[in-house]
Amino acid sequence: MPKVVSMINWKGGVGKTTLTLHLAAGLVLQHSKKVLLVDLDPQCNLSFLAIGATDYINHTYTKKGETLKSVFDNYFSRSSTNAHNIIQQKKVNHSAGHVFVDIGIVLSHQELTLLDMKLAREKRVGKDHREETKFEIEKLSIIKELIGAVAGEYDYVLLDCPPNVNLVTQNAFFSSDYYVIPAIPDFLSTVGISSIKQYMDQFNNDYRSMWTYAGLPGSYTDTKFGGIIFNMVDEYGGGPKDGHNQIFKSTIAQQGIHAVFDNYVTDGDGITTAAQMNLPVFAYKDLPRSHANAQKQAKYLEGVVNEFVSRIK
Ligand SMILES: Nc1ncnc2c1ncn2[C@@H]1O[C@H](COP(=O)(O)OP(=O)(O)OP(=O)(O)O)[C@@H](O)[C@H]1O
Ligand SMILES: [Mg+2]
Repeated sequence: MPKVVSMINWKGGVGKTTLTLHLAAGLVLQHSKKVLLVDLDPQCNLSFLAIGATDYINHTYTKKGETLKSVFDNYFSRSSTNAHNIIQQKKVNHSAGHVFVDIGIVLSHQELTLLDMKLAREKRVGKDHREETKFEIEKLSIIKELIGAVAGEYDYVLLDCPPNVNLVTQNAFFSSDYYVIPAIPDFLSTVGISSIKQYMDQFNNDYRSMWTYAGLPGSYTDTKFGGIIFNMVDEYGGGPKDGHNQIFKSTIAQQGIHAVFDNYVTDGDGITTAAQMNLPVFAYKDLPRSHANAQKQAKYLEGVVNEFVSRIK
């Protein structure tokens, strides 16, 4: 069974998408794993970043290819989904002119926002409250079903969530073994972390009791907290600069000694330069500029990937 991990933070622009892509790339390059990426964000940033905007538009609009939207459409029309048609294999860019053979991706679609609202409105009438609770669980299980259909084919499934906790994000959480919180080291972000964890605890409690009440077989397995990864850290003298170091320390004081990844990612134009070419920063040799910075960020990301493997068991 793959390890399923949701990247969650409702603060925007903290690096959820960037870390999701680089974790996938690092798991393949450093650990020879097979990875499935799922882009759940209607902004489609991961889809663009991973395969490039031109290929995305060609696939989704010109060829009317399948995306995550099809999965939700099938749920509403009560049709079955063929996961292999939804997953795009050998499309994610590895370096200039090369793709990753061992990464599959479920592309997102901008209409996912509408589907989220439709999902929220949908209420199937059951014969009693128990049956209606079962329908609510089915509504939360759409992504879980998709992953279940290809479980034997991947070692990790990484879910890039939008910056909200709507039903699509809840679907990701429901399907996951772990959630990881990407964050930037500023004061407001660290305040936000406590409330994210509270929400996630609440989801676990709700889903656990819904599962039992609906009388489903087995039991709901809690989605565990996998840790906080700090991104866009500024360094001074070989470590996080003073202000950022304070944030590291206060987050550890609030959340516990194991809550924060020891490894972090520095701020720099290597990642942004690579992103402009729809490449992971590991392909720093193919970049037109910012080599040194890209190489440094690649090294830090390798550390994050290794720590991810040791934490997500
Ligand atoms: N370590 C970094 N150094 C410099 N730029 C970075 C770094 N990490 C991410 N970025 C850039 O910051 C921007 C936001 O990153 P990203 O899209 O990964 O965040 P996000 O949390 O997924 O955002 P959203 O909430 O909108 O989905 C992107 O332009 C990305 O290239
Ligand atoms: Mg994103």
